[in-house]
Amino acid sequence: MTGELAGQTVVLIGGSAGIGLETARRARAEGAQVVLTGRDPDRLALAAQEVGTERTAAFDANDHAALAEFFQGLPGPIDHVLVTAGGPHYGPLLEMDAAQVRAALSGHVVLGLELARHAAGRMRPGGTLLLMGGTGGRRVGHGLGIVSAATAALPPFTPLWRWSWRRCGST
Ligand SMILES: NC(=O)c1ccc[n+]([C@@H]2O[C@H](COP(=O)([O-])OP(=O)(O)OC[C@H]3O[C@@H](n4cnc5c(N)ncnc54)[C@H](OP(=O)(O)O)[C@@H]3O)[C@@H](O)[C@H]2O)c1
Repeated sequence: MTGELAGQTVVLIGGSAGIGLETARRARAEGAQVVLTGRDPDRLALAAQEVGTERTAAFDANDHAALAEFFQGLPGPIDHVLVTAGGPHYGPLLEMDAAQVRAALSGHVVLGLELARHAAGRMRPGGTLLLMGGTGGRRVGHGLGIVSAATAALPPFTPLWRWSWRRCGST
């Protein structure tokens, strides 16, 4: 295939729907091989058929052992990783229990670190790790619930992830 991403492999953590799936479509159109992940295997199979890839893996991105196993099991090097999985929970704060609040506040941060830990060693020089935030971090709104705080917490972690990423072996 020809195109801007010919010869490259793009991994979509959350690639069976939404932004991840559309990115997979566009990466394929630019000649990339794509690997799609998500939790629901049926939705994943439909997405894979649509974009034309046989490379999929069904697991919860917040399951750190499964995430590590996924990267270890990749057959070759990769170039780009986009993470849209594991987004924050929208809804009134008082309707969430303590475990949900804890997960919403820490989920993205821990996922970013685990990705730095496990994806870096599989990436070719010049690769990218793209994590998804959201506009909810720019304002506080009753309907947004905890999502404003959870998203606003991400930017200070970016240099820390980058630092961890480099220590894990990526350029
Ligand atoms: N849509 C927007 O306009 C927008 C704007 C700014 C930011 N965002 C943020 O971008 C992210 C993605 O949005 P989207 O609209 O693309 O969402 P979406 O359409 O719901 O797609 C999410 C994808 O991630 C997978 N996924 C979700 N949780 C997962 C988990 N724990 N482990 C593995 N896979 C998981 C889903 O598949 P399964 O459910 O089968 O796992 C699906 O493939 C969210 O964090 C959202 O807050 C969205």
